[in-house]
Amino acid sequence: MSQKEIKINPKYPSVTDLRNRAQKRIPKFAFEYLDGGCNEDVNLHKNTAEIRDVELLPYYLSKHTGSQMKTELFGHVYDAPFGIAPVGLQGLMWPNAPEILAKAAFEHNVPFILSTVTTSSIERISEITEGKSWFQLYHPAEDRLRDDIIKRAEAAECPVLVILCDVPTFGFRPRDIRNGLAMPPKMSVKNILQVLGKPSWALETLKHGQPNFETLKPYMPKGLDLAQLGKFMDQTFSGRLNEEKIKPIRDMWKGKLVLKGVANEADVEKAIQLGIDGVIVSNHGGRQLDAGESTIKPLTRIAAKYGDQIKVMMDSGLRSGPDIARSMASGAQFTFMGRSFMYGVAALGAKGGDHTISLLKTELQQVMEQICCEEVKDFPNHLI
Ligand SMILES: Cc1cc2nc3c(=O)[nH]c(=O)nc-3n(C[C@H](O)[C@H](O)[C@H](O)COP(=O)(O)O)c2cc1C
Repeated sequence: MSQKEIKINPKYPSVTDLRNRAQKRIPKFAFEYLDGGCNEDVNLHKNTAEIRDVELLPYYLSKHTGSQMKTELFGHVYDAPFGIAPVGLQGLMWPNAPEILAKAAFEHNVPFILSTVTTSSIERISEITEGKSWFQLYHPAEDRLRDDIIKRAEAAECPVLVILCDVPTFGFRPRDIRNGLAMPPKMSVKNILQVLGKPSWALETLKHGQPNFETLKPYMPKGLDLAQLGKFMDQTFSGRLNEEKIKPIRDMWKGKLVLKGVANEADVEKAIQLGIDGVIVSNHGGRQLDAGESTIKPLTRIAAKYGDQIKVMMDSGLRSGPDIARSMASGAQFTFMGRSFMYGVAALGAKGGDHTISLLKTELQQVMEQICCEEVKDFPNHLI
């Protein structure tokens, strides 16, 4: 496939610009669901702030024959060392968001990870990406359900299954509680008034219909009201992941298996013993443990110790090309972002995926040329 042309809307040359526009365009409850962390948001803010403490050395007089972002991961050569992290309920933030992002990721040749609890199905996203999208499994309480979803991911030719370990319990998110977005959710008068103030969001939502949990539809009893839906989700995904739960998944899944949400060395040791192919060092974008470390700290330790035994990737807090570069210089072999892409779609609708990927590619290319880094694997040579 030839490389996708880079086009950036000059009105939004940063993720901050996209976030500001998203805030104006979508209802408050949807924006706060996307934007917030947990408890006092300490971890959310530390993630980005501490990544930005990382500094890179430029080598201006070294020989430079060109920089390129191509990165091999699990047997596929991607056009850039970043991808789109799994995000739940995307259609609430902008109708068709998973389809928009999956298409943009496919065209730009970067990975898209579909969440179990988002608003498009494994099959639909696989069709859009010609079997290139990854799938993130929320661990179901019932083995039968787990096996069925895994078989569907296999039939859809997903190359990588991502299992999640950082949600043994749902994070405590004051904004969502205030907005009635906690389980069970409710559509309050306050929320309806917020919708009325955002006509483009309301129109698009009317056009596409109410968002549903498309991957989970076959397992949900028909005609659930919102309170029953909350109960169904709670009962279905009451899963703390552990070694016993990972073993049967490893036996069953023939493709690459990635453990997401890892934040310490002990869990990486276990992942290696269990035959996991890669870890995503992540704190869920600061949405789970407010008292936890920012991701750049465990990333640095884990990459140094285990980077030659298992693929070490990271997410949480990255908002720009320089942030991706800082993370790669600290040892990440690949990076992911959640909110940056969703801000893009909430800000620019169908053009948001293409715009945000183009922006990040442009910024990362600029950093590489600036510091004289020809290949992404050389980033650590520039770490101060
Ligand atoms: C609104 C929202 C919903 C999320 N839902 C999921 C999910 O369903 N599954 C999952 O593995 N991670 C989920 N995450 C975490 C992301 O995959 C990712 O770890 C996080 O967004 C990275 O941080 P960043 O937003 O600072 O880039 C969600 C994150 C956000 C912001």
